[in-house]
Amino acid sequence: MNKNNQNIIIVFIFNTIFWAAPFMLNAANGNPAPIAPSLPWAWIATRAAGIVGYILLFILTMSGLGIKTGLIYKFIDPVQAWIIHKYLGIATATAIAIHLISLWLDPFLKFSLYEILVPFASNYKNLYVALGIIGFYMFVAVIFSSIFLFMNPYILWRLLHYLPYPIFVFIFLHGILIGTDSSIPFMLWLYWITGLLVAMLSTYRIYLSFKRRA
Ligand code: HEM
Repeated sequence: MNKNNQNIIIVFIFNTIFWAAPFMLNAANGNPAPIAPSLPWAWIATRAAGIVGYILLFILTMSGLGIKTGLIYKFIDPVQAWIIHKYLGIATATAIAIHLISLWLDPFLKFSLYEILVPFASNYKNLYVALGIIGFYMFVAVIFSSIFLFMNPYILWRLLHYLPYPIFVFIFLHGILIGTDSSIPFMLWLYWITGLLVAMLSTYRIYLSFKRRA
C-alpha cells in the first residue's frame, strides 16, 4: 500500500473513533439524554461535532508543535508529518463546519446566522459564544493562509502561524465553559489533560527558540 493511501486510512480511522466517542462517552456515563430520540438531532450533532472539533484541534496543535520542535520526527519522517498535519487541518475544519451548520439548524438553541457569525450578538452565554466565534475567525485565517499563502510572503504566513496559540486558549475556554457535556467528569479531565499537554509542549517550544538564539 502506498503512503498516500495509508494516510487516508489513518485519517478515516481517527475520524470514525472521534465521531463515535462522544456518544459512547455518554452511554458509558449512564446518561441517556444525548441519545434519547425526543432530543433534537441537530443539538446532539452540534455538541458531538464541537467535541470532535476540539479533540482534532488539540491533535493539530500538538502535531504543529511536534514539527516545530522536531519531536515528531522521532516517530515519523518529515514528509509524513507534514501530510498528517495537513489532513488534520482539513478534518478539524470539517468538524467545525458541522458544529456550526447543526447549530444553525437546531430548533432548541435557536441561533440565527447573524448570531453564529457576529461576536456578542446572541443572548445565549454571550461571552463564551464570542470566544468560539473569535477562535473560529482566527482558525479560518490560519487555514486560508496555509492554502493560499504558503510561505509567500513568508512574514505574513509566519505571523499568522502564531495564531494557533490564542486559538487553542479561546476554544479551550469556549468548550469547557459553554459545553453541556462539561458536567461529565470525563470531559473535564479531557479538557484539563489536553490543555496541560499543549501548555507543556508550548513551553518547550519557547525554551528551544531561546536556546537556538543563545
Ligand atoms: C474553532 C471553532 C469551534 C470549536 C472547536 C468549538 C468547540 C465546541 C465545544 C468543544 C463545545 C462543547 C460541546 C459540549 O460539551 O456540549 C462547544 C459548544 C458550543 N459552541 Fe462551539 N466551537 C467552535 C466555534 C463556535 C462558534 C463560531 C459558535 C457560534 C455561535 C459556537 C457555538 C457553540 C454553542 C452555542 C455551544 C453550546 C452547545 C451546547 O452544549 O448546548 N462554537 N463548541
